[in-house]
Amino acid sequence: MTLQRRTFLIGGLASAGVVLAGSTAATAVAYPFTLGVASGEPAADGFVIWTRLAPSPLNADGLGGMTSADAAVEWQVATDANFTQIAASGTVAATQAWAHSVHVTLTGLQPGREYWYRFRALGHISQVGRARTAPAVGSSPALTMLFTSCSHYEAGYFTAYRRMAEENPDLILHLGDYIYEGGAGSGVRTHQPSGEITSLANYRVRHALYKRDVDLQAAHAAAPWLVVWDDHEVENNYANLVRADNSPAGGDFAARRAAAYKAYYEHMPLRSAQAPSGSNLQLYRRLRWGSLATFHMLDTRQYRDDQACGDGTKLCPAADDPGRTLTGAAQESWLLDGLGQRLGTWDFLGQQVFFAQKLAAADGSKSMDSWDGYTANRGRIQAGWQARGNTPVVLTGDVHRHWASNIMDNYATQNKVIGTELVTTSVTSSGDGNAAETGTSSLNPHVKFYKNQRGYVRTVTTPAQMTVDFRVLDKVTVRDYPIKTAQSYVIQAGTPGLQAP
Ligand SMILES: [Fe+2]
Repeated sequence: MTLQRRTFLIGGLASAGVVLAGSTAATAVAYPFTLGVASGEPAADGFVIWTRLAPSPLNADGLGGMTSADAAVEWQVATDANFTQIAASGTVAATQAWAHSVHVTLTGLQPGREYWYRFRALGHISQVGRARTAPAVGSSPALTMLFTSCSHYEAGYFTAYRRMAEENPDLILHLGDYIYEGGAGSGVRTHQPSGEITSLANYRVRHALYKRDVDLQAAHAAAPWLVVWDDHEVENNYANLVRADNSPAGGDFAARRAAAYKAYYEHMPLRSAQAPSGSNLQLYRRLRWGSLATFHMLDTRQYRDDQACGDGTKLCPAADDPGRTLTGAAQESWLLDGLGQRLGTWDFLGQQVFFAQKLAAADGSKSMDSWDGYTANRGRIQAGWQARGNTPVVLTGDVHRHWASNIMDNYATQNKVIGTELVTTSVTSSGDGNAAETGTSSLNPHVKFYKNQRGYVRTVTTPAQMTVDFRVLDKVTVRDYPIKTAQSYVIQAGTPGLQAP
């Protein structure tokens, strides 16, 4: 074991020395890869690799201890973890305008295989990340995909991220609330900056605080990610440019949202097509996984109408107004167009808020922040996918609980299952939870499963079926708990709905 490790270290450094010869001489700069490395957006011919130079990542100015000078960042992609076979390499400039983050979009790689990548800058070599290209169109190898959401730094340790890395997945989805915007509160560790974040500098420091976590870094280094945000990347329950509350008071919310979106881009392995423009950022997008699956990644925050009846959980006829939208008209038609293409066996919607109807009381009270607050938009999408012969699987975050539901054509009559919804619990948000708590109700017969513990969902998808394991940890306020499966289901291709395994 010692010999292997020694061989790896020497081989790695020697390889770097040969290939990267003539690069920036080592200087006395502190280690700049404090935020780890990441990959994302896999395609059949490449993916994005990301890092950010930040020798002092929590500096209050948000600049990570870097000066205004550009820094050359060399990168390598190899077909082996020892970097003996280099598939691609190059140099990119990290600039202060983007907080010295780099997003390298790789093309020309082989489909359906693993790659390893690393960076070198300021005389230091980064950690090694493992990525994977999507399979070629026409092929459908089994896909192990994990998804999670809601990783509040103070609410617990990121053990779920560590366990996700250990699953050796092909792909990881994060469905929103990757950071939380609130100031320092109570918990197992403490937010920095200490106040609610509203400026670009503060959003950068908050992202850096989260990215310093070694468990999170392990999950990013283990597999490519597909990310979409929810509300807390900006502010709780905001809707387009409408704030949910006035705390902290005042300020220009469009400018705040622009700062939050920019910091999000700077810290995520996204393509340059997702670089922000003013206070907007085009996040909804489609990704093909060979002929097996298509991921339709949605943004349910940036274009939505304000929550009806002042938000909250209530009886609110205005929620059914046909003019209301959660997706915006352009994203709705884009989604229906994509669901009509039937590019792969499976269509996955990666999105934020509870999709299926979920009545909170017999009088019809529902959550105004979820699709229940935008029922006409949901109805058009459900009818649209039925008209196109589709039976998608909706992947959801937000609610800090595991849930599983059959999506119904008509929730009142429970007439026909037309899709399936899998809701992941949180990484940490809401703390340890309660394994014994019950949550399903006779008000919602299509909702089959509920578990109030932290973790993620593991899926293994083939052309015939999808197996689903709801993975949980007994505690997140204590480090290093083991992961276990609370419940499993199977979904058969072409037959929507949850089945016993
Ligand atoms: Fe959350």
